[in-house]
Amino acid sequence: MRQQIIAGNWKMNKTTAQAVEFARELKQSIDNNVPVEVVICPPFTALAPLAEELKGSGIALGAQNMHWEDQGAFTGEISAPMLKELGCRYVILGHSERRQYFGETDAGVNKKVKAALEHGLIPIVCVGETLEQREAGVTEQTVAGQLKGALAGLEQEQVAGLVIAYEPVWAIGTGRTASDQDAQQVNNFIRKVIAEEYGAAAAEAVRIQYGGSVKPANARGLLSQPDIDGALVGGASLKVEDFKGIIDAIG
Ligand code: PGA
Repeated sequence: MRQQIIAGNWKMNKTTAQAVEFARELKQSIDNNVPVEVVICPPFTALAPLAEELKGSGIALGAQNMHWEDQGAFTGEISAPMLKELGCRYVILGHSERRQYFGETDAGVNKKVKAALEHGLIPIVCVGETLEQREAGVTEQTVAGQLKGALAGLEQEQVAGLVIAYEPVWAIGTGRTASDQDAQQVNNFIRKVIAEEYGAAAAEAVRIQYGGSVKPANARGLLSQPDIDGALVGGASLKVEDFKGIIDAIG
C-alpha cells in the first residue's frame, strides 16, 4: 500500500518569520495520526529554522532545487550534502518553472536525481506537458520522454523509492485543474512507463503525485484516483487552512 504524500511547494514565498509562524500553526492543526505524509518545501533561507520548528512533528522538510555537484565554484547554488545537513528528506527536481525560466533539461535533472539519491534525499521528480503539447496530442510522448530522461541509469530499487509529480504546465498557478479522469489517465500512464522500464515492483511502489491548482475543493476527487498518491501543492500550500483542507481530503 503506497502512503499518500502531500507536499507544499512554497516557491519564492514567505520570509523566515512567516515560515516559522506557518509551521507553528500547521503543527497545531493537523492530527498526527492522519494516514498521509506531509512535506513543506520552503525557500532555502527558511530550511534551517523550519527544521528546528518541525522537530518531532512528523512533518517532513524538502527543498525546491539543488545542484548536482557536492561543492565547487557554482555561485548561487546549493548542494545535496548541504540540504541533507539541514534535515531535508525531499528535494523537488525538474519543476516546470525551473525548466521554463532557468533552462533545466532532462539531462540536468537526471544528474540531480542521481546526486540526491547518493546523499539520501528523496527526489520529487516533476514532469508534465504544456498546453500546446496537450493540444497537439503529444502528452504521453512528452511525459514519457521527461521520465526516461530524468531516471536514466537508475536501479529498480531507486526508482521504487522516488516520488514523481505529474504537473501539467497549463494547470500550474492558473486555477485550471486537470479533471480527475485526465490526471488519473496520465498518472496511470506514468506507472506503465515505469513498469516497462524498471519492472512491476518498482511501478507498484513508486508514488505519483498530481500537481496543478490543487485546492481543498478539488482535492478529494483527485486524491481518490487509484494512481494518484498525493499532491504537489503551490498556491494553496501558502495558507494553513487551505493546506490542511487538502490533507483532510485524504481518507
Ligand atoms: P499550484 O502550483 O498549486 O499553484 O498550481 C503547483 C506547483 O507548481 O507545484
